Amino acid sequence: MSASLVRTQVAIVGAGPAGLTLAHLLHLQGIESVVIEARSRDYVEHRVRAGVLEQPTVDLLNEVGLGYRLAREGLEHHGTTIRFNRRSHRIDFTELTGSSITVYGQQEVVKDLIAARLDADRPLLFEVADARIDDASTDRPRVSFVHEGNQQVIEADIVAGCDGFHGIARPTVPTDVLTVFERTYPFAWLGILARTHPSSEELIYANHENGFALHSMRSQTVTRQYLQVAPDEDLERWSDARIWAELKNRFDDEAGFDLEEGEIFEKGITPMRSFVAEPMQYGRLFLVGDAAHIVPPTGAKGMNLAIADACVLSHALGAFYATGSNVLLDAYTATCLRRVWRAEHFSWFMTTMLHRPPDQNPFDQRLQLSQLDYVTSSRAAATSLAENYVGLPFPTPWHWKD
Ligand code: FAD
Ligand code: PHB
Repeated sequence: MSASLVRTQVAIVGAGPAGLTLAHLLHLQGIESVVIEARSRDYVEHRVRAGVLEQPTVDLLNEVGLGYRLAREGLEHHGTTIRFNRRSHRIDFTELTGSSITVYGQQEVVKDLIAARLDADRPLLFEVADARIDDASTDRPRVSFVHEGNQQVIEADIVAGCDGFHGIARPTVPTDVLTVFERTYPFAWLGILARTHPSSEELIYANHENGFALHSMRSQTVTRQYLQVAPDEDLERWSDARIWAELKNRFDDEAGFDLEEGEIFEKGITPMRSFVAEPMQYGRLFLVGDAAHIVPPTGAKGMNLAIADACVLSHALGAFYATGSNVLLDAYTATCLRRVWRAEHFSWFMTTMLHRPPDQNPFDQRLQLSQLDYVTSSRAAATSLAENYVGLPFPTPWHWKD
């Protein structure tokens, strides 16, 4: 059986936040792309992951015509609470930085991006199998895959590997080209979605002697909450009653915090990892988002970084197609890595400050307490935390309307 051949400018592997944002930003510049995705549309639209959008991400989505539902359903937060030693301390983002964050589920961003792609009538293929990238180091890279039983090949100028941490794009790069920087943590997060009114208007990050806990939300009727657990934790050992008891225990404060319980309708365990692969380019293959880097979720940076990479790459491709210049494409790795490493540091910093590792000794515990005390009592330290949390400006300003 011979493969059918499709020619496009940019082949995009993966329809997560990175791939779909890239496809949309390219379309706005008149650049053609084909997006292929291993999973079904229903699966990617319901995959529960991140929930916090930085200010620059919100600004970008508004500027590129994707802000309508976000403005209606997103929850704008002007601060967050850090709780330790049973005391609550508010970090006021807006007072300290002039910016805020918006709570809006990743799957909602993905739904909005898919709707935009389909409205524009641009190619987006779900449930593709056996994807592989060939000739990445030439100027005619190809992506082969099977779709609806047919072998297909996309011949492109550029391939964007937006296929997440477990995708095929990064392993396509020869191992002697990539340098990997990595850290694993001796804990994971048990995350739930529950039908309850949030017990706090803003997120609560709690450091408790039993471990970290996070109170977050998706709407006025759905909460998202997390507990630090062992990396090899067995979900079966966590009945709903045990989860609520432990959340109540870890969120308890001297003012008598009242955590509302409700039906838990989603439960899962997320590993914690820091990971960066450099460079993010190999010939005509560009790694975007989780394909190139992972952060532990404590800083709420993963999806925001993926969207920032897509923004940088779309801008560089705009220049490439408009002028033939490779200058911005060649700068892609350096431009992205500056933001990536800032987010890696911030995510590590938040993780280290807020979790209780099983081997924590009294010296480390005192250091942690000192750090918590500092960020909640020094305006300078709180401003630094807030500035990182609300998000530093995108390296490539997206002035679509200019
Ligand atoms: P992804 O969202 O992973 O998208 C990659 C896409 O590529 C997927 O749709 C995948 O199906 C597809 N794909 C993979 N292989 C192939 C292939 N061979 N062919 C075609 N398609 C392929 N961040 C936070 O800030 N807070 C959180 O609470 C949080 N929780 C998380 C929980 C989990 C379980 C995971 C894995 C991540 C979580 N993150 C969280 C991180 C955040 O969700 C990611 O940073 C974000 O999804 C990155 O977007 P992406 O587009 O780069 O990758
Ligand atoms: C979430 O709402 O899922 C969430 C919020 C903040 C984080 C991580 C996850 O740091």
